[in-house]
Amino acid sequence: MSATTPATRDARLQRLDEKNAEALLGGGEKRIAQQHKKGKLTARERLDLLLDPGSFEELGRFVMHRSKDFGLDKEYYLGDGVVTGYGTVNGRLVYVFSQDFTVFGGSLSETHAEKIVKIMDLAMQNGAPVIGLNDSGGARIQEGVVSLGGYADIFYRNTLASGVVPQLSAIMGPCAGGAVYSPAITDFILMVENTSYMFVTGPNVVKTVTHEDVTSEELGGASTHSTKSGVTHFSCANEVEAIQRLKAILSYVPQNCEELPPSLPYDAAQDEARPTLDTLIPENPNQPYDMREIIAEVVDGDSFLEVHQNFAENIVVGFARLAGRSIGIVGNQPAVLAGVLDINASTKAARFVRFCDSFNIPLLVFEDVPGFLPGTDQEWRAIITNGAKLLYAFCEATVPRVTVITRKAYGGAYDVMNSKHIGADLNYAWPSAEIAVMGAKGAAEIIFRREIQEAADPAAALQEKVDEYQQKFATPWRAAHRGFIDEVIEPNQTRQKLIRAFKMLENKAVKAPRKKHGNIPL
Ligand code: HXC
Repeated sequence: MSATTPATRDARLQRLDEKNAEALLGGGEKRIAQQHKKGKLTARERLDLLLDPGSFEELGRFVMHRSKDFGLDKEYYLGDGVVTGYGTVNGRLVYVFSQDFTVFGGSLSETHAEKIVKIMDLAMQNGAPVIGLNDSGGARIQEGVVSLGGYADIFYRNTLASGVVPQLSAIMGPCAGGAVYSPAITDFILMVENTSYMFVTGPNVVKTVTHEDVTSEELGGASTHSTKSGVTHFSCANEVEAIQRLKAILSYVPQNCEELPPSLPYDAAQDEARPTLDTLIPENPNQPYDMREIIAEVVDGDSFLEVHQNFAENIVVGFARLAGRSIGIVGNQPAVLAGVLDINASTKAARFVRFCDSFNIPLLVFEDVPGFLPGTDQEWRAIITNGAKLLYAFCEATVPRVTVITRKAYGGAYDVMNSKHIGADLNYAWPSAEIAVMGAKGAAEIIFRREIQEAADPAAALQEKVDEYQQKFATPWRAAHRGFIDEVIEPNQTRQKLIRAFKMLENKAVKAPRKKHGNIPL
């Protein structure tokens, strides 16, 4: 008896309609109104904005929690506080989870975690990015340790997926306690200003333990994490901007570590000379300029998407396109702290370099660096270990790597900033480049100390030695004669040279020595 009568079939479909309608309402209309009143979208509205129209396929819509304690046996919501599934962004497959604050404050139960784990497993097996839209009161308090287990199941998969598929986290509400560690393991975090926060322990615990009075926003809002801690890579004015930013990031990255990033069409017949580049380096080598201006001139149109814009501003990192192809850019920023490398700049750039290398995105470095930042603060907080992260990240990277030295390349920072010695494929220098162990004044004071002291006019003697050192070493020529620099180029030719260089390097294949994994100085 396989045939069903039309009447029973209709009733079953009706039941499905009812279930669907119930699930779509999440925690109900009242809580949806509260969510909107806070200036927040619902989990489903966010997915509507993120995914191509009609592309979303939901999985686990009818999942319910299994708890019986603290009244939960009387309170069930279909979906259990998270909307999960897959869809497309600009035609490319992505896996998504979007926490629904209207259901138990988006808190994470055993089943809620299982739903996230399911799409993470699918993402890894099928090689597509995972995007998490986080809005959650943390562990479902009524469930106790079961919920903690659920978090750990997610952390474990975040780590397994790291370097396999891109993982992006948008924080669109609370994210507290151990819950912060899933986003922290993912590749990029985006926070929404004024409506999201992240902290391990909230203001009340802080008050009890350290007696500090601090608001949620001060402790872990988007502004704090985008400027002070660097936890978030992007601070977005609102949720719509955050979702647009997610899509923009995806446009530069491949689906997984086996693929190349998408590229846009490029007309090879264009004139690639950029005469403005000839005018951007000031006459006085101690005068700052904005490295972003150089980046903007070199890359395609307005393709530069800066990452970590307001954190460690003495280094600039971000994605761009060159002749239609994705590249990752790292540039010292002479406009901030003279572009010196310090702890934050080193860790910021190191993480970005490792992301690009994981996902086959070639690296372009613009170098103007006076060295590492001296001082007890930096030394005692381990500039040695942290600077070594950037060194290690570059050494380890096997993607095509090209450096342009625009001005200073001094000391250890010359080695670290993608020199040929640590595996860069090509190093170009502009005629304004100064490639030496240290600045001319410091060098003259050390190596000619006695002569200067004994001179009739020590100031004049110092100046003479500074000039001599400057002429000999504060140029690109010593390095070029050695072959450490492949070519000294006119700035206006930079874009053309780089387009050709990256095209030449597009089939680069490097076999790293066999190992389980390296031990980056953490
Ligand atoms: C169960 C929760 C919940 C939670 C919120 N709710 N958090 N239910 N478990 N963790 C419920 C509320 O009871 C409420 O239900 C609804 O969600 C909305 O919460 P409100 O408090 O009304 O909203 P709001 O005023 O916006 O405040 C949001 C909040 C607050 C700041 C997140 O709810 C809060 O402080 N929650 C507890 C946060 C917390 O301590 N979580 C545990 C962290 S420890 P009704 O029915 O009234 O709508 C943790 C460990 C993870 O997460 C470790 C992993 C390793």
